[in-house]
Amino acid sequence: MLIKIPNKSHLNDSDVTQESVYQERRSLLKQLGFLGAGALISSALANKAKAGFFSDDDVSFKTQALEYQTDTLNQALIKTPEQKIISHNNFYEFGAKKDQPAALSQGFQVKPWQLTISGACDNPMTLDYDDLTKLFPLEERIYRLRCVEAWSMVIPWIGFPLASLLKRVMPNSKANYVAFETLHDPEQMPGQANSRLGGGIQYPYVEGLRIDEAMNPLTLMSVGLYGKTLPPQNGAPIRLVVPWKYGFKSIKSIVSIKLLEQQPPTTWNKLAPNEYGFYANVNPKHDHPRWSQASERRITSGGLFSRNRIETLPFNGYGEQVADLYKGMNLSRHY
Ligand code: MTE
Repeated sequence: MLIKIPNKSHLNDSDVTQESVYQERRSLLKQLGFLGAGALISSALANKAKAGFFSDDDVSFKTQALEYQTDTLNQALIKTPEQKIISHNNFYEFGAKKDQPAALSQGFQVKPWQLTISGACDNPMTLDYDDLTKLFPLEERIYRLRCVEAWSMVIPWIGFPLASLLKRVMPNSKANYVAFETLHDPEQMPGQANSRLGGGIQYPYVEGLRIDEAMNPLTLMSVGLYGKTLPPQNGAPIRLVVPWKYGFKSIKSIVSIKLLEQQPPTTWNKLAPNEYGFYANVNPKHDHPRWSQASERRITSGGLFSRNRIETLPFNGYGEQVADLYKGMNLSRHY
């Protein structure tokens, strides 16, 4: 099913978000060093221009520099092909191998669906399937997704800020954390019925955020990608996307969101607390026992010029927007 995003003339407050997303991309490029490199190249050339000479070498240098710049720019923002995004998945409810979710989730029924938002709030509510795409203006956000297994993608999500939803339920003063829960339905989710297939996880899959993380404008409730509703293997009909954290925080097929006073338990932390923390912020300086986090393998179409191994950025490149949330915290201890 196609998702209709209102065109610009219909946008109101999400115009602001479009601008902030643009700024995000600029700042991401800056952190990746691309805008800086461009500026350096241009100023070297500008000085030569001022001096009034350009040799043949300069012209070829300029061409190469521009090609390099364009190439690296494209590399940083290039969307992962849709086919890769929907066939290389982690969704243990449908099997722990990368190709199993796409193969085993195709009969998954998302209608009827109920998402309950409850707990420490004055206006709890339950949304049904249609509410998920109709209640809030939808936006496209192109985000980097970084898995703790050290691979990454660039995904054009469709969704709305989690903050919009939370504001509607009016969190009260006890709402310090937000807990999320995936559907528990072993009849539909074979990994929940068969522990071997489901990777030994204790279901339902649960996740959590601090309230300020949940309210951050980057935190998205996604209902689609590449302009279409989410395929089952990517978390239909609604999932979380927290781009500065490892992918396991981005819980799929959510049926419950609860505002809590205390920090909630989270699936991977319960399974292996020394490997997976509550915060799970992307951090090149804190290795997972099995995967170095210093660099990552980008999943691309594998074109001739694709640079597949890139350095990992703190907070996955979104530090400018989120580093303040962790001021004064020891991020090696709170991994
Ligand atoms: N949510 C549920 N319910 N079950 C899962 O197994 N896997 C997580 C996350 N959300 C998972 C989940 C992990 S480890 C990652 S990396 C991302 O989903 C992968 O999202 P993708 O398959 O859309 O790329």
